[in-house]
Amino acid sequence: MSANIAELEKRRAASKMGGGQKRIDAQHAKGRLTARERIDILLDEGSFEELDAYVEHNCTDFGMAEQKIPGDGVVTGSGTINGRLVYVYSQDFTVFGGSLSEAHAMKICKVMDNAMKVGAPVIGLNDSGGARIQEGVASLGGYAEVFQRNVLASGVVPQISLIMGPCAGGAVYSPAMTDFIFMVKDSSYMFVTGPDVVKTVTNEVVTQEELGGAVSHTTKSGVADNAFENDIEALLSVRDFFDYLPENNRTGVPERPTEDPWDRMEPSLDTLIPPSANQPYDMHELIRKTVDEGDFFEVQPTHAANIIIGFGRIEGRTVGIVANQPMVLAGVLDINSSRKAARFVRFCDAFEIPILTFVDVPGFLPGTAQEYGGIIKHGAKLLFAYAEATVPKITVITRKAYGGAYDVMASKHLRGDLNYAWPTAEIAVMGAKGAVEIIFRGLGPEEIAEKTKEYEDRFANPFVAASKGFIDEVIYPHSTRKRIALGLRKLRNKGLENPWKKHDNIPL
Ligand code: HXC
Repeated sequence: MSANIAELEKRRAASKMGGGQKRIDAQHAKGRLTARERIDILLDEGSFEELDAYVEHNCTDFGMAEQKIPGDGVVTGSGTINGRLVYVYSQDFTVFGGSLSEAHAMKICKVMDNAMKVGAPVIGLNDSGGARIQEGVASLGGYAEVFQRNVLASGVVPQISLIMGPCAGGAVYSPAMTDFIFMVKDSSYMFVTGPDVVKTVTNEVVTQEELGGAVSHTTKSGVADNAFENDIEALLSVRDFFDYLPENNRTGVPERPTEDPWDRMEPSLDTLIPPSANQPYDMHELIRKTVDEGDFFEVQPTHAANIIIGFGRIEGRTVGIVANQPMVLAGVLDINSSRKAARFVRFCDAFEIPILTFVDVPGFLPGTAQEYGGIIKHGAKLLFAYAEATVPKITVITRKAYGGAYDVMASKHLRGDLNYAWPTAEIAVMGAKGAVEIIFRGLGPEEIAEKTKEYEDRFANPFVAASKGFIDEVIYPHSTRKRIALGLRKLRNKGLENPWKKHDNIPL
């Protein structure tokens, strides 16, 4: 008996050593943690239960039969984050560069299948040289098995990817199909083809970091959601983030106790809107003063910052927040901000997270760059996402709600449940001056000024929309949190279903 236990201990110890001390040291020298160290930080202490620690690859080509390492380059299993179940896989760069073999892929598939069976989220820690080159098509098949599961799990259980090392070639498409991608600065990169191929094909000279580093993907491309300074910060942030998410699409949002009074008044909000319509203000202030304890987890803060998205809580329950940001491009809707917000709205709707929308939008951005880039299709994504969403939707117009953007931003017409406006709201087809210059083309400057004043008096307020029932109530800014909390309570048992269909055809 004791010999059997000794054998088990020997095998466990071997599997824990991955590719050996030398490679572990090399990983540390790069400022990166090992696959197991990462899991230890991500999960509650002692909660990790490993699966498949003794799985080995079945490749015999290129001398691989003599090189077998138990676990085959990925640590898989389940554990808890603040007591809630999660399935994880963590690629081990010390074993064949974390490359994906058929056996490695099957381990990932097993945790995904288990997660789907019980309705728990999946977090993938990616650090891999891509397809196991010695295995060829077996490895490609393995990737596709993972991709297929990503798609079936989409909208059923939340899927989060952390990129903590290389992620290149077709390997990027698994994270791309998950709900959120987080990266580590100066340590992780994602690209379809690396700098050498880029140079050969396009003659561009670019570094790995410029091409696919965390900063490029969280500012320029918007492929990744947030960038963190190092492995530890990234893993601890994912723990915080996880607390906002439901376990699956049926459980509803998690609840956590809060000391913050639901009816807290915020008198400072009564003076948030500056006297001049062209002056910006920071929409973050309204968000932080509305949510519990000022806690707001912003997603994609550095990409398309003219729209803000992220999670907060009201009365301890998660809400998704979408808000125009007057500080950046006057809060205009453009291609990037429309796509960013549309995907977020769809995530919230898929997982029964109520959506809170703060509106201060001067319209869609004009210009050839936007038109040639397809703003019509991209803007339609946000419109489509809001219109199909059946979760509770509460909208507060703080200032401008002009033109098509008024309709798009969770208006009453798109089944907004509660549509509030502050007294400073201006709901119109367009800004007063532009409107008058069109209706009264040819008038002199004085008459234009006079007509502009007339147009402003008529439309630069919330009462025309309120008189038609498009705005349910004009509220005091200081009472915003209270009105939202009351609204969400009322809407907790909201029942609304879209007509049966196989799936919709959102303008991609
Ligand atoms: C097998 C691999 C490997 C791979 C790395 N290794 N990548 N083994 N298959 N894809 C091994 C190395 O042989 C080495 O083994 C160890 O991992 C560490 O690699 P190094 O090169 O020493 O590390 P580093 O200098 O940090 O460079 C990391 C790297 C580089 C940039 C990832 O290894 C690299 O370019 N690898 C190949 C990347 C690639 O072309 N992959 C295929 C992409 S196509 P030892 O024994 O020395 O420790 C693809 C298609 C997917 O993935 C399609 C899905 C649809």
